[in-house]
Amino acid sequence: MHPDGERVLFTREQIQSRVAGMGAEISRDYRDKDLLIIGILKGAVIFMSDLVRNIKVPLCFDFMAISSYGASTKSSGVVRILKDLDRPIENRHALIVEDIVDTGLTLNYLVDNLKARGPASLRVCTLLDKPASRIVPVEINYNGFIVPNEFIVGYGLDYDGRYRNFPYIMVLNRKVYERGK
Ligand code: IMP
Repeated sequence: MHPDGERVLFTREQIQSRVAGMGAEISRDYRDKDLLIIGILKGAVIFMSDLVRNIKVPLCFDFMAISSYGASTKSSGVVRILKDLDRPIENRHALIVEDIVDTGLTLNYLVDNLKARGPASLRVCTLLDKPASRIVPVEINYNGFIVPNEFIVGYGLDYDGRYRNFPYIMVLNRKVYERGK
């Protein structure tokens, strides 16, 4: 593990095996449906690229980018669309793919925003769920792992833009984000 980590939460192998399971479940549920995956930039990119290769039905994908925390570990509660979908989702079976649900503020906003566009269905898939820090309730249809209320990086998740490339998920050592204080 990299020295900025406190401990590994999930190894590459554990992640790959869970993602394969999630892909199989989604393949079954969307067998006869025209699936549109909506990936949330940038955190979900690594997870999404592994997930779609484990889904056995033909699908389309698109991306949205929303404002994130910046160089902080706390949610501001302010959600802003930085990049919208390229195409309408009306009458499509849409599945949001997120990296982690923390306060739920981002997802709550996204679900309301996308529902208003008239999809045939809208579900949520997240790799990680951190239920202890939830502020608004959100329905999660597919969840990879439950995680403790700590700051986590790797496999798409970042701190100040870094660590997304790590193939495993680790708890970030506090000294990394307390350095600048
Ligand atoms: P929420 O709006 O608080 O649920 O936060 C959702 C977003 O915050 C996620 O998509 C992540 O980009 C970011 N986030 C929340 N918790 C963590 C974490 O532990 N590590 C890295 N990013 C996080």
